[in-house]
Amino acid sequence: MNITKQVVLASAVTLLSSIATTAMADGEALYKAKTCWSCHGKDAKTPIIPIYPILAGQNKDYALNQMKDIKSGARNNGQTAAMQGVMGLVNDAEMAEIAEWLSTLK
Ligand code: HEC
Repeated sequence: MNITKQVVLASAVTLLSSIATTAMADGEALYKAKTCWSCHGKDAKTPIIPIYPILAGQNKDYALNQMKDIKSGARNNGQTAAMQGVMGLVNDAEMAEIAEWLSTLK
């Protein structure tokens, strides 16, 4: 194998593995990167304001549905607007990853 082929192959591998990492970025990393912790607390159970919900241990399907409804505006309580602003940062797959991780917390 000549050097050019090796370089091309190496970059293809690097590219593929970074795509895989992005797709499988775990819920915990997303929760931090997408600023969720800033309101819900780093451990997802110490919200900055007492009336903000505790997320740790929540059922994953329920949590995902709430996120989708908050994002779309279908859920609109007095506090919903606070969170809606950051929902543009997450897509459905990312919300599902986060919900999955939240459900594993005690
Ligand atoms: C600016 C503060 C803020 C940020 C940032 C924020 N949230 Fe929220 N979140 C709230 C508030 C307030 C509510 C309650 C909304 C309501 O009453 O409708 C909420 C509700 C929720 C709920 C529904 C909880 C339940 O029991 O029904 C989930 C799940 C959730 N947030 C997850 C997230 C995730 C994941 C992120 C990051 C992508 C995030 N939040 C970022 C403030 C925030």
